[in-house]
Amino acid sequence: MTGANKGIGYSTAEQLAQLGHQVLLGARHPERGEAAARALREAGGSATYLPLDITSDEQVYAAARWIAARFGRLDALVNNAAIKLEFHPAPPSRCELDVVRRTLDTNVVGTIRVIQAMLPLLRRAPAGRIVNVSSGLGSLTLATTPGSKYRDRPLLSYNVAKAALNSVTVQFANELRDTAVKVNAVDPGFTNTDMTKNSGSRTPTQAAAAIVRLATTGPDGPTAGYFDEGGSIPW
Ligand SMILES: NC(=O)c1ccc[n+]([C@@H]2O[C@H](COP(=O)([O-])OP(=O)(O)OC[C@H]3O[C@@H](n4cnc5c(N)ncnc54)[C@H](OP(=O)(O)O)[C@@H]3O)[C@@H](O)[C@H]2O)c1
Repeated sequence: MTGANKGIGYSTAEQLAQLGHQVLLGARHPERGEAAARALREAGGSATYLPLDITSDEQVYAAARWIAARFGRLDALVNNAAIKLEFHPAPPSRCELDVVRRTLDTNVVGTIRVIQAMLPLLRRAPAGRIVNVSSGLGSLTLATTPGSKYRDRPLLSYNVAKAALNSVTVQFANELRDTAVKVNAVDPGFTNTDMTKNSGSRTPTQAAAAIVRLATTGPDGPTAGYFDEGGSIPW
């Protein structure tokens, strides 16, 4: 798990721990990561904090080496960590390039970095799963559908990054199509977290459910898909 110390990431880690999985709780701040892992252990789960800033080659590859030495494989990777630096209303014409750069560097390049580092470990698992936590805001279809709420949310850097993440999902799924590894994107829905300044309409627990479902999907489960809690959504 990346970005697992709070919000939707923490709830996903919590639910995976409740299902009996050994959770590796990635977080960029040691105190926050340790505190979150401790809370899951105190609730009876199996959780270990892993230092993981997804913008750091050094930390991401150190994490992969640690997992390889300790477990020899990784059953599921949930790419949840992301930043959102704009708030509605944010006309694309006024978005600063530095905001675009920083958002793409974390949400897209950082996620690709983690996938590339963890892929050898996922290939060694009997049924490796990758879940990229996307957003309905990354859907080009929804953004161009008259009447859709997504058409009125032009957050340039965040939405472009989620659209790119959707493509990342398909690119890796296609490369891995003949393997046991399945790769999917999930829209957790508009959720009460720090990212939305708690203005969402859903709890992190509700948001995590679809992520957990895809992270634990069976051999007949989908790959190269884009889902919310109700099923497939349009790219
Ligand atoms: N909330 C929503 O309504 C909503 C809707 C659709 C999609 N999503 C997606 O759901 C995911 C989780 O969002 P959230 O609402 O739970 O947001 P959040 O509460 O802001 O949590 C984001 C997490 O990502 C971590 N993070 C950010 N940059 C990182 C980096 N460079 N390396 C490692 N971790 C990093 C944060 O760590 P720190 O605590 O150290 O900052 C935090 O743990 C994101 O991918 C988001 O885009 C959210």
